[in-house]
Amino acid sequence: MKKIVILISGRGSNMQAILAARLPVTVAAVISNEPRAAGLSFARGHGVATRVVEHRAYADRTGFDAALAREIDAFAPDLVVLAGFMRILGDDFVKHYAGRLLNIHPSLLPAFPGLHTHRRALEAGVRIHGCTVHFVTPRLDHGPIIIQAAVPVLPGDSEDALAGRVLEQEHRIYPQAIRWFCDGRLEITPHARVVLEAERTAAGTLFAPALEP
Ligand code: GAR
Repeated sequence: MKKIVILISGRGSNMQAILAARLPVTVAAVISNEPRAAGLSFARGHGVATRVVEHRAYADRTGFDAALAREIDAFAPDLVVLAGFMRILGDDFVKHYAGRLLNIHPSLLPAFPGLHTHRRALEAGVRIHGCTVHFVTPRLDHGPIIIQAAVPVLPGDSEDALAGRVLEQEHRIYPQAIRWFCDGRLEITPHARVVLEAERTAAGTLFAPALEP
């Protein structure tokens, strides 16, 4: 059984969705840079080991990244899962986990990398927004894309309403991506594309607003 370590910074709803999916994997630990992250007590309550590596305790990113990597590597995971982990990780850290580090981002990348994605989607007036699971590379929010889910932006949407609809889909696509990884079905091509073994094409097209006859 593959071993995974999940990194969080706060609420941890994606981590909860991953645990709830009962994937055939061992969640070896949940690690947070924030000692007060709500997700930590949830993980503990579900019998998962937790660790805190507080970024404030380190003078620079290099020191924090090294301490974080030591905690992670103590569990010898096959895969490291960033689930609402809100620290930027340095190049050396990312390279150390090349090909076994995933992130979920609340936009249809490459649109809206960085923060405040729902507000920026509303400001841009896009009709379709969503979320992306991707492999992490040194360039922030630009790694090979594994799966995306799209939701329509509705008239009168608030940032919170849109975020809530996207989050529901995050909870569906992250467990799926982890399952594919752990089943050995994902391959990264030399052109930084992800190929899914025996890929099925989702039926239909999403239009927003819907087409009329
Ligand atoms: C999620 O929406 C996730 O996509 C986002 O933070 C939220 C964490 O929620 N991640 C990023 O913005 C990473 N740049 P959660 O703690 O409830 O999973």
